[in-house]
Amino acid sequence: MEFINKFLHGDCEDVLKKLSDNSIDLIFTSPPYADQRKNTYGGVSPDEYVDWFLPKASQFLRVLKPTGTFVLNIKERVFDGERHTYVIELILRMREQGWLWTEEFMWHKKNSYPGKWPNRFRDNWERLIQFNKAKEFHMYQEAVMVPVGEWAKDRLAKLSETDKTRDESKVGSGFGKNVSNWLGRKMVYPTNVLHMATECSNRNHSATFPIELPAWFIKLFTKPGDMVLDPFMGSGTTAFAAVQLGRNFVGIDINKEYIELARERTAQEQIRLPHIAEKRPSYSVRKLHTKNGAKAKR
Ligand SMILES: C[S@@+](CC[C@H](N)C(=O)[O-])C[C@H]1O[C@@H](n2cnc3c(N)ncnc32)[C@H](O)[C@@H]1O
Repeated sequence: MEFINKFLHGDCEDVLKKLSDNSIDLIFTSPPYADQRKNTYGGVSPDEYVDWFLPKASQFLRVLKPTGTFVLNIKERVFDGERHTYVIELILRMREQGWLWTEEFMWHKKNSYPGKWPNRFRDNWERLIQFNKAKEFHMYQEAVMVPVGEWAKDRLAKLSETDKTRDESKVGSGFGKNVSNWLGRKMVYPTNVLHMATECSNRNHSATFPIELPAWFIKLFTKPGDMVLDPFMGSGTTAFAAVQLGRNFVGIDINKEYIELARERTAQEQIRLPHIAEKRPSYSVRKLHTKNGAKAKR
């Protein structure tokens, strides 16, 4: 692909027209939030947000492979005392555009400090909305497994005496069987709530997300050598994560300074890990195309 591992300057709606149909495995992005960053990179009015976003989403739909995934990091803000509905409206309009709204993840910002507002509490989470073109998409669940540790301790502590007896004797209720299924396992599947700290060193960009965030989704939805697109890439966090994980990327931003920032940020990593994108996946792709696994979770 002509634009492999490149940062492209311009409005993603125009720039994406240069990319081929069905060429991207994962789109991961955090677009400008409605009106929020007017002083830094231009805001879009919340009432116009959906109309602004949809032509871009149409390009995302075109360039994404049928097996690919689009993850949108966004959160509706408060206007005039209530949450605006532009994210909800966007989901509905994207479904009309042909997207499937497959799932929603929550990013819990675990390092938030306390605050005081008259009618609400600290906003401490953001949405990561998963869209797909088809019900069967690539998902490598084993790549994001977590140690069973605390889960097992908490869960077993909450069991009643009866549950424990049933569990020990390995007969009886389905619950007992479920728990025992996980006993002795070191790794389990995570939930759809991600606990990650916000990025504190802002890298000359006012809205960087932590590298763990794109990294987690890159591991879940791509394999080494796959193509990751961030059409609103800012300081290049998604590209940086992609390089570290041996994936290829395309990054787009309307602001030239951010393009330079992202180039600088990833160049050193590309020099440090020149060979990684050529590596074959170390796990079986067929086994991990969890068509069944994905369905089983829903
Ligand atoms: C929320 S920031 C992304 C921050 C990024 N996730 C990071 O970690 O640095 C959104 C970015 O979208 C860019 N942007 C705004 N409108 C755009 C457009 N039409 N096409 C491409 N980029 C755009 C802005 O310049 C800004 O850098």
